[in-house]
Amino acid sequence: MLPVIVAVRSSVGKKIIMAVTALSLVMFVIAHLLGNLQLFKSSPDAFNKYAHKLESLGGLLYIAELGLLSIFVIHIIIAFSVVIGKKRARPVGYYMKKGLGGPSKKSVGSSTMIYTGVIIIIFIIAHIIHFKFGPGIEQGYVKMVDDHVVRDLYRLVIEAFKNPVCAGLYTAVMVLLGFHLSHGFWSAFQSLGAWHKRYTPVLYGIGIFIAVTMGAGFLSIPLFIYFKG
Ligand code: HEM
Repeated sequence: MLPVIVAVRSSVGKKIIMAVTALSLVMFVIAHLLGNLQLFKSSPDAFNKYAHKLESLGGLLYIAELGLLSIFVIHIIIAFSVVIGKKRARPVGYYMKKGLGGPSKKSVGSSTMIYTGVIIIIFIIAHIIHFKFGPGIEQGYVKMVDDHVVRDLYRLVIEAFKNPVCAGLYTAVMVLLGFHLSHGFWSAFQSLGAWHKRYTPVLYGIGIFIAVTMGAGFLSIPLFIYFKG
């Protein structure tokens, strides 16, 4: 059998693939938030310029998007296969869930991973349809930036978050994203075998820091746009 298939079938292999894809997704989420911070600037051109710069990467952007999509798909498939495997191994759940001490870190984040994960998948599909494949230059969302005709993505985002339902839904999902990351980051390192009396609490702390920063950073965007004059 091919080594990749053996790895995908073994529980250790699955854990490693989950960990590597999770850490790659965390890097994407950090980069995406940093880019979206342009929305806080008073000039609409800043965000449109940033989006246009990404678009001008052309082929490179398509390769990055394909890579990102593959990472998402692999992460989701392995996550479901782990959950189904666990269900088969223990059809009746624990009567009482308790932390095990040592490396175990039972939390709201850890026991809701599959639920927050499913909501995030649904969110990402709707999000991409809305923003990436939403109205563009042909529909009048157009601007001149530095002598270039560019898609007015800034207008699309502002219109979306001026709508209370959209701003509210985004805010709620960003809280769930924070919970997902609060366990995901730490758990990825644990799966890769990083356990040390002294450094484990540091990694756990970094995970919580990333979760809070990402959750708060992303949710501040719809709230900022909704409440600003
Ligand atoms: C307030 C929060 C967010 C805003 C304002 C925002 C904004 C955007 C915009 C404007 C695009 C379209 C970019 C383009 O067409 O050039 C986009 C794409 C995307 N967003 Fe977000 N986003 C937010 C949160 C998130 C979160 C939390 C995730 C993931 C967990 C995410 C994942 C994606 C993905 C995967 C794409 C497609 C990227 C690509 O194919 O280039 N976004 N986002």
